[in-house]
Amino acid sequence: MRILVAGKGGVGKTTVSALLAYELAERGYSVLALDTDSVPNLAQSLGIPYEEAEKIIPLSKNEELAEKRTGARPGEGWGTLFSLTPKVNDIVDSYGLRISKNLNLVVVGSIDQGKEGCLCPAIALARAFLRHVLLKKGEVIVVDCEAGAEVFGRGLAEKFDVMLCISEPTYKSLRIARKLLKMGRELSISRSFLVINKVQDEVIESLYERVFKNDNIPLLALPFDAELRRCEEAEGGVNSLPRGTPLRKGIKKIVSEIMEG
Ligand SMILES: Nc1ncnc2c1ncn2[C@@H]1O[C@H](COP(=O)(O)OP(=O)(O)OP(=O)(O)O)[C@@H](O)[C@H]1O
Ligand SMILES: [Mg+2]
Repeated sequence: MRILVAGKGGVGKTTVSALLAYELAERGYSVLALDTDSVPNLAQSLGIPYEEAEKIIPLSKNEELAEKRTGARPGEGWGTLFSLTPKVNDIVDSYGLRISKNLNLVVVGSIDQGKEGCLCPAIALARAFLRHVLLKKGEVIVVDCEAGAEVFGRGLAEKFDVMLCISEPTYKSLRIARKLLKMGRELSISRSFLVINKVQDEVIESLYERVFKNDNIPLLALPFDAELRRCEEAEGGVNSLPRGTPLRKGIKKIVSEIMEG
């Protein structure tokens, strides 16, 4: 199963991706977490300390490996690397970082300086991989995206089984989520969910009704969790959140919904 986590900036895509990845791994799935943000930070949410995360070589910088595998340099036809049904292990073995027994991270790219250009070649590679990958039973790929519509514009969002569109509990955020969900439908993503994150005392049902009226998009919710800030400041990942917190329970519900529901 391929799960896309999309949404506007700062809504919690990376946090939710990390929580999902851990919960799925805990349930015995073999999970590949794929960070496609140009300012990657899924590693930190997965609990890799900053210093260590900075040593991760993203696909886009991995020229030597790309040359070895494809005879090409980034930008010169990486897409061909995965044109024949690849396996998850192909990308994990070459480019991945093992977080736990059945949880791996691959970072697609990183733009570290002004005028450094774009991530197009690396995104094209990720897109080719996601398009053609042959998933074995029990394998799940969770993709954390760049904020906004780029993931749809670049076609990276194609061929997903599930999209979680994350939103904050505000009218404006929901309007944007609606737009992104529509783009997902146009790319034929099979099942889409709206996830309203950081919920405190807002009445999300009435907000949802106002914006989504007859759209028939299932609504899921995740509570605001003040512990997240403490974890971040201690350079801990979402895995250091205490078990049984409302946020973790919310994630369990989401995983049950998308995997079994
Ligand atoms: N349920 C929550 N409760 C409290 N804080 C949260 C929650 N979800 C996310 N946050 C906080 O919101 C901030 C942004 O989260 P995150 O980085 O996951 O968002 P994002 O959508 O990935 O952002 P970007 O668009 O920059 O990639 C973080 O500091 C995170 O801890
Ligand atoms: Mg993010």
